[in-house]
Amino acid sequence: MSINCSAIVIMGASGDLAKRKLIPALIALFENGTIAGDCMVLGNGRSDYTDESFREHIGLPAELSDNVYYHQGMDGLFDRVKGLGDFNKIIVFMALPPAAYGNTAEALYREGFQDNVRIIIEKPFGVNYDSARKLNDHLKKFYSETQIYRIDHYLAKEAVQNILVFRFANSIFFPVWNSSNIESIQINAFEEIGVESRGAYFDKSGIIRDMVQNHLLQLLALLTMEAPVSLDPESIRHQKLNILRALSIKDCHIQQYEGYRSEETIPDDSETETYAELKMNIDTYRWTGMPVYIRTGKAVGRKLTNIVISFKKVPQLLFNKDGKLDNNRIIFHIQPQSGITIGHSTKIPGSDMDITTTDMDFCYATSFDGTVPEAYQKLLQDAMKGDQTLFVSAEETELSWKKIAPYLDMGSPLIYPKGQIPLSQMEVNWVDPDKYANSCRF
Ligand code: BG6
Repeated sequence: MSINCSAIVIMGASGDLAKRKLIPALIALFENGTIAGDCMVLGNGRSDYTDESFREHIGLPAELSDNVYYHQGMDGLFDRVKGLGDFNKIIVFMALPPAAYGNTAEALYREGFQDNVRIIIEKPFGVNYDSARKLNDHLKKFYSETQIYRIDHYLAKEAVQNILVFRFANSIFFPVWNSSNIESIQINAFEEIGVESRGAYFDKSGIIRDMVQNHLLQLLALLTMEAPVSLDPESIRHQKLNILRALSIKDCHIQQYEGYRSEETIPDDSETETYAELKMNIDTYRWTGMPVYIRTGKAVGRKLTNIVISFKKVPQLLFNKDGKLDNNRIIFHIQPQSGITIGHSTKIPGSDMDITTTDMDFCYATSFDGTVPEAYQKLLQDAMKGDQTLFVSAEETELSWKKIAPYLDMGSPLIYPKGQIPLSQMEVNWVDPDKYANSCRF
């Protein structure tokens, strides 16, 4: 069933995010019938567009002309929406610099956007605990938590949404999902690109703020949370929060890629980290004693996000007398290819009893037809439906900042060669991330 009668207001509509991601996602949703023809998109910004020139600017297909309009500035914005139709809800997407979120929310409220309004904002939500709390407190003066949708686009990735299904819809995995059976969890999020044109933002942020505080702690929470009592967003958030509460960071090392300081807008003496590796524990009965490792960085030669669950080795008996048998592993391939691999021991055919590790692969590309919807389509659609499952709560954001606080702006990063995963500064048996990189490559 299509979603009908929604107005979608895009603040910052002449900017890059709107043009690259939001408008194409909305066009796709109109075209595939997810949102009905009585929905309306209103672009808003400082730029001086008419409805026609805005449609031209975003390359709107002619058949959607009656669905897309433009309004310059805040004055009269609410009346404009009202004048365009009788909408049962208004979604406002702030494609704006994060520093503008607080004041814009206030201005929207005063302009008339109050009931049946949902506000979507995208990270960063503050730059540390205090600023995140301040932002949340300010937003809460005008909008309730159920009206605020904080995007973490990792949660909308298809392979990430599947983590809870894998864990709780398969009876073979949940009995072993604990520290009695699992030796470690390793989360890798690698990027080939450096800071590119985002130096001004990134240098004030660093990879820990940019990736760990939000995306990677969210992944960790999904991987380790208890089963929620239901699939409603509150129950899921409650369980994720319990993991964040129980999380303790034990070790953290930072590095910076060679040449970073010569990138556009980066100061010669910048100490911002472009790579980080962390060790964490989750102090719950289920997870006590099992380390979680996270490593993430820019300019490390490959775009690859995966999660490696290593199970404890079998006893040094029978097939593993010398202790050399590899661990069983479950690998969640998040991107670029998506799927799951299970690595297990197999007798080499023809040998007496030589054993090697073989893989069982599930790949989205071969198991399912059709393209996977782009993250923003899913997020916009959910916000219109009023489903907050894939959005992050104020409390989760604040708690993540609190946990990560001692590791922000550590300074004095080691330097690593551009294009390589840096040498680890921790004593970890890192599983080679490339070992499984080809599992779902066709
Ligand atoms: C963003 C970060 O949140 O996530 C970027 O600000 C990073 O620095 C990006 O490149 C990675 O997202 P994805 O979906 O490409 O892994």
